[in-house]
Amino acid sequence: PFFPVILAGGKGERFWPLSRKERPKQFLCLDGGSRSLLQSTADRLLTLAGDWNSLWVITAAVVAKGVREQLPQLPSDNLLVESEGRDTAAAVAWTSLEIKKRYGEDAIIGFFPADHWIADLDKFAGTLDAAIELASNKDAIVTLGIKPTFPSTGYGYIEQGENTGSFNNLPAYHVNRFTEKPDRRVAETFLSTGRFSWNSGMFVFRAGVVLNELHKHAPEIIEPLEKNGPSIYPQLPKKSIDYALMEKTSLAYVLPAEFGWDDLGDWNAIERLLKTENTSNVELANHVGLDTKGAIVYATDRNDVIVTIGLEDVVIVRDRNVTLMVKKERTQEIKQLLKTLKEDS
Ligand code: GDD
Ligand code: MG
Repeated sequence: PFFPVILAGGKGERFWPLSRKERPKQFLCLDGGSRSLLQSTADRLLTLAGDWNSLWVITAAVVAKGVREQLPQLPSDNLLVESEGRDTAAAVAWTSLEIKKRYGEDAIIGFFPADHWIADLDKFAGTLDAAIELASNKDAIVTLGIKPTFPSTGYGYIEQGENTGSFNNLPAYHVNRFTEKPDRRVAETFLSTGRFSWNSGMFVFRAGVVLNELHKHAPEIIEPLEKNGPSIYPQLPKKSIDYALMEKTSLAYVLPAEFGWDDLGDWNAIERLLKTENTSNVELANHVGLDTKGAIVYATDRNDVIVTIGLEDVVIVRDRNVTLMVKKERTQEIKQLLKTLKEDS
């Protein structure tokens, strides 16, 4: 049996002011449709899980209520609520312990971020079938590698090693090295070799395998959790699974992910999804623009009229009591600014 787990505890601050403390990015509908990122993630995982009883979600206490509202069919036993977020290593460790307790160490688990967009759902399902096959045949931490298109510093990089056979018609490779979020220079070198892919942030393995690896490489997280249960959570170190495990394990494998993928990291991602050749702006608002191009304009209340003259490459977002205007290339800085802004953020 396969147990997909949605990692839904992040903040998604770069989508502020649309994302707020109690309404983080995963609750937003960012593709112009009616399902939120979290709901779309659950939709595509349900096909793999079979039914709601096999689907799990781990999230932070502040947003647990929102998760229950958005996924009313999720059994309450399958929702793990973290008293406070300790990043993804702790989340993976706790969920894997729970699933092992209930289903044994051969249960196959998949972890999935809640902030991704995926184009081809059939191909996605086929790739996951390959990952499940690989994880049941080998002691493997399976990753899905995305063909990189630019030297991004926001992703993990996977160096492909030896071919280890074919699974559901996809070639699997051993991972030589995993590097989380390298700096620009290193990312450029990686890209020029042609041997690296981006880490998609999705992982598949057997419960027993990941728990063994955590014991080996991240005892500071797994041991206190095993000994005390989740009450120890606030004392656990804050580390992502990429640093805590992926950079250290020698059991990593990579499958090519060719289903069309985007990490909805900030407002510019909305443009990649929605921009067509015939429009000069991306408008999710009642926008009247004169000599305006390359703008991303969003208004929660479609009765609000946003008027622009002579603007280029800007993001304008109006949500309740806040209006944000920022140059496209500086949207990453919203995160820093938020540290100084307290009210309702
Ligand atoms: N439950 C829980 N608790 N979930 C969390 C926590 C936490 O403390 N922190 C983050 N998450 C969730 C986020 O909501 C998101 O869905 C997922 O875990 C990944 O976290 P991000 O913070 O979005 O990670 P990232 O985008 O910087 O990097 C990861 O994803 C990239 C691809 O999108 C890494 O795995 C990179 O290597 C990878 O390239
Ligand atoms: Mg992310």
